[in-house]
Amino acid sequence: MIMVVITGGAGFIGSNLIHFWINATTDAVINVDNLTYAGNIQNLAELIDNPRYTFLRSDIGNVQTIYHILRKYRPTAIINLAAESHVDRSIHDPDTFIQTNVVATLRLLKTVHSHWSALAGSERDEFRFLHVSTDEVYGSLEIDDLPFRETTPYAPNSPYAASKAASDHLVRSYHRTHGLPVLTTNCSNNYGPYQFPEKLIPLVIRRALAGEPLPIYGDGQNIRDWLYVADHCAAIRCVLARGRPGETYNIGAANEKTNLEVVHRICDILDEGKPRRDGKSYREQITFVKDRPGHDRRYGIDAGKIERELGWKPQETFDGGLRTTVRWYLENQEWVANVTSDAYRDWIALHYGERASSA
Ligand code: NAD
Ligand code: TYD
Repeated sequence: MIMVVITGGAGFIGSNLIHFWINATTDAVINVDNLTYAGNIQNLAELIDNPRYTFLRSDIGNVQTIYHILRKYRPTAIINLAAESHVDRSIHDPDTFIQTNVVATLRLLKTVHSHWSALAGSERDEFRFLHVSTDEVYGSLEIDDLPFRETTPYAPNSPYAASKAASDHLVRSYHRTHGLPVLTTNCSNNYGPYQFPEKLIPLVIRRALAGEPLPIYGDGQNIRDWLYVADHCAAIRCVLARGRPGETYNIGAANEKTNLEVVHRICDILDEGKPRRDGKSYREQITFVKDRPGHDRRYGIDAGKIERELGWKPQETFDGGLRTTVRWYLENQEWVANVTSDAYRDWIALHYGERASSA
């Protein structure tokens, strides 16, 4: 049986990817995650008795444990999603980002390299290390710039983006220096089920339903390029199957929207499906708050390479994906209540307390 290790599988994209992989393939999946605040093993509760799914709790930087996992299970691929992923947290606490996204990722690469070096024949030839990264490494676009291509120079602006850029460079170096068969994907903003409600879309849905202010940074005109998470999962599978080692692939669906447009759309979907008791629109709850320092103005992805070379295309429209996402959060309010623990409340108080003054 083909065995695939997915790191960070208890997080947002990782949980979706594991569900996707188990449904779309006959492979066995090993989820390696150390369960930070962003990891929630309950996301995968329905797989607990599935013989094709194994959860192993470990930091990706734990050399002994990871080496043992690789020797024991002999996976054909490692898909690395484990990371600290929230820009605002990286502004408050950059050290954690360097620790996981740079130091632990380097340790993972070293461990994978030792393991791979000892393989022979087809096991060695077919092995892949796929590193999941972000479009934020490319920096910020002006309104009339062309979208990011794989050749766009790196210019990360937040500690998060800088730490991901560093990890991408380390991955590249392991290919160039040691021949490790790596693939890197740079994806735009994802949305969908299981996203931790510190990120814009789930945060707005949750706060709208709770009757709380919907905080928009600055003037709300910053642009993000949105991709439904299931499309990202399909793209990762496609790159793993057909991508050329040493290459990078941008992933996106050309859904560039201002933050204000996104929040308006969420309010409109909620107005239709779960109207406020007072008959007013959820838009009434929008408040403009102090901007994020170094806030990138615009991200946009040119996904021409993955489409041309590997035949991947997104399937979901922005409106369809957003409706499905809003419905999922309406139907899973218990999940939201479970993940928004004391630690979550501390984060909201720290971060939004500071931004209370309007821009
Ligand atoms: P997330 O924060 O929801 O999940 C991260 C997961 O990694 C959590 O389960 C956490 O417990 C785990 N983790 C963190 N540090 C670890 C460590 N040292 N060892 C083992 N596990 C660890 O993140 P996400 O949004 O699912 O993003 C996953 C990956 O995709 C990240 O690498 C991120 O940079 C990248 N990415 C995310 C987006 C997006 O919009 N969310 C877009 C492009 C790329
Ligand atoms: P976010 O979901 O944090 O993703 P990223 O910063 O990685 O793009 O934020 C998406 C956009 O929404 C970004 O431009 C910042 C903005 N934003 C707000 O306006 N208010 C909020 O409360 C949050 C969390 C984000």
